[in-house]
Parts: sequence; C-alpha cells; structure tokens
Amino acid sequence: MTQSLFGHVEPFAGDPILSLNDSFKADPRNEKVNLSIGVYTDEKGRIPVLGSVRSAYERIGFAERPYLPMDGHPGYRDGVQKLVFGAAHPALKDKRVATIQTIGGTGAVGIAADFLAKHTPGRTVLVSDPTWENHHGLFQRAGFKTTTYPYWDRARRSVDFDGMIKALEAADSGSIVVLQPVCHNPTGVDLSEEQQAAVTEVLVAKGHIAVFDMAYQGFGTSVEADAAFVRRYAARASCLVANSFSKNFSLYGERCGGLSIVCRDADEAERVLGQLKLAVRRSYSSPPMTGGLLVATVLGNDELRAQWIGEVDEMRTRMDSMRKLLAGQIRALSNEVDVSFLLNQRGMFSFTGLSEQQVRAMREKDGVYLVGSGRMCVAGLNEENVPKVARSFVDVSQG
Ligand code: LMR
Repeated sequence: MTQSLFGHVEPFAGDPILSLNDSFKADPRNEKVNLSIGVYTDEKGRIPVLGSVRSAYERIGFAERPYLPMDGHPGYRDGVQKLVFGAAHPALKDKRVATIQTIGGTGAVGIAADFLAKHTPGRTVLVSDPTWENHHGLFQRAGFKTTTYPYWDRARRSVDFDGMIKALEAADSGSIVVLQPVCHNPTGVDLSEEQQAAVTEVLVAKGHIAVFDMAYQGFGTSVEADAAFVRRYAARASCLVANSFSKNFSLYGERCGGLSIVCRDADEAERVLGQLKLAVRRSYSSPPMTGGLLVATVLGNDELRAQWIGEVDEMRTRMDSMRKLLAGQIRALSNEVDVSFLLNQRGMFSFTGLSEQQVRAMREKDGVYLVGSGRMCVAGLNEENVPKVARSFVDVSQG
C-alpha cells in the first residue's frame, strides 16, 4: 500500500492493570502468582462459579434473546435498587431513583461521566489520591479535567482525613467528587462512620456532586453494612451510584453493573432516566442479556438471594484469613517487616508500601505479580502460594 492513513497513531502505553494481567498470562513460569488484577480466586486458585449463579443458569436456560430495553432488564434494575439502597429506602419509596443496567462498573462510571459532562459541564472532578486510575481516564474521556483530594497518609498507612476534608472544602462549589464507599481501591482503607458523616456535611454544604463507585459491596463487612454510607448519603442529598457485580457475583466476563442517580423527586428521576437511556443508545444501544438475567434471577428469588449472600460472606471470610496467613508467615520470616497493612486494611486490595522497583523485583525474580503502585490483590492468595509470596515480600523489603 502506498498511502498510510494511520501512520500518526501512537502506540498504546498499556494499562497498569489489564496489560499487566496479559503479561502474567504470557509468563511461562509455572510457579507464578497473580496478585495484580482485582479478581477473587478460591483456595484452588480458580475463579469460582457461585452455586446461586449456577442455579440461575439452570433456570434461565436457552430461551430466546431479544434486545433488552436501553435501560436494561426490569428485574435487574429493581435488584440493583434494593441491593444498593435497601428495599425500604425513602428515595425508592418516593420513586426518585433512576437506575440503568450497565456494562460492568466501568460502564456505570463511564455513563455517569458522560451524563455529567452533558448536564453539568465544566465542573472540576476530584478523585482520591491514589485511586483506581481509570477514574481519571473515564472522566477525562468525557471532557473533564480531573484533580485529586488527599486520601492516603503514607507514613501512618491510613486515611489522610484532614487533608481530604480541607481539599473538599477548598474545591470550587459544585465540584464532582468521586468517592469509593467501601474497600477502597487501591489502598484498602475506608472512612469511619464519623468521617463519612463529616464528608457528607462538606459535600452538601458546598453543593458538590457525589459520585459513589461501589465495586466491592459485601467484601468489607457485609452486603448490607457496606452500603451504609451510600444509603445515608442518598437519604440526605442527590448523588450518583455506580455498582458492579463482577466481584461479588464472580461474573467478571459478563460485565454486569448498575448506575443509579438519586434525584429530588419522581418527575426529575423520570427525566434523568430518559437522558440515561439516550446516553446508552448513543453508546452501545442496550446492555447484554445473559449476565443481566443471571443477576436478576438471583436477586429476585429469596432463596437464591440468601444463598448468594452466604457465598459473598464466604469469599470475604477467606480473603480475611489469607491476610492473616500471609501476615503470620511474613512475621515468621522476619520481625522487621511491618505487616499491619495486611491486618488493618480490608477488601480485595492492600497497599503494601513497596516501591515500583521492589514490585518489579518480585515479578522478575519470583514471578509474583503486584500492580506497580504497590497494590496487592489479597483475593489471589491461597495456602499453596502464601509461603512463596511471604518469602518474596521479605526478600524485597530487606534487600
Ligand atoms: C482492578 O482494579 O484490578 C479491577 O477493578 C479490574 C479493573 O477493571 O481494573
């Protein structure tokens, strides 16, 4: 060919999480351990198929597959609302929540950013420092400039709460503030109930727009308790809530998520829902069906729902026990390495405090993969790989 139309296209620098996962797959070493991407694996290192989801598969069968509506499966949307807000929430009673089925939690944040760009343009977007780095990318793609509020206190390995509050107070009124209500990614440290209340006061006083990204409901304390911040906030003020079923349903590849916008009244919610449908239509028309049916079937059936909650509890309990096991084995190897990060943080991730260089050393020498920021996915630990991870961790910490 003589003509090059795309010669100017720049190479993709790679995604810090997904491209690393590709490298892990391509690594020929047998003893490699994947603690990078946020995927829960069981004691045998497999992504579980939950019993509740298996039963739902049997129920949905190979029926016809028409298009879903733009806003998704009605039972799914109902399930999202009850799970996120609680069935008795006043906002649901008043019918002032607009909810759509989305393509994963990422799709939910993406549609939220598109919606805000169209209807509340030109605002500053604040995300936590650090955060899931796609938060920056999704809001920038929608046309926003993103900036950060302090979140991680490196020295104390906890939340820099004073810094966070000061930044939220100093931000322009009406800014968009992205919050992770539970199991913060990547740090594994969350706000206390009092801190949540204080953040709520500042956001409401400043007229900020809260966007909650709740990707790990059930992995912190329980499915119900983990939603408490969102539920209290939604009783107080308008907000947007993105949620994901990738992790708590172990349905990563089905891309099941939800976006809910809490409005002032039912009329506003109706109009907002219409605009969300339009955003979906312009982007991918309507969401896919099979995952939607699975989630709707589990959440819409009392027995399957109870079984599913038990299965989420099991995943959480196993992650907690792996944290303790790794901490114990690191301690057995060295008294000098601080393991408090494993015991004080919760959810799928821990922020180890390791440098990018130390993370690289673990990967190159031992085939133990962490994200470059030092984030470790504890949901990838099991009894077989913990000794290797402990040894590698101690080696780089002392080396
Ligand atoms: C992660 O943070 O590893 C997960 O949420 C997967 C992703 O999409 O980045």
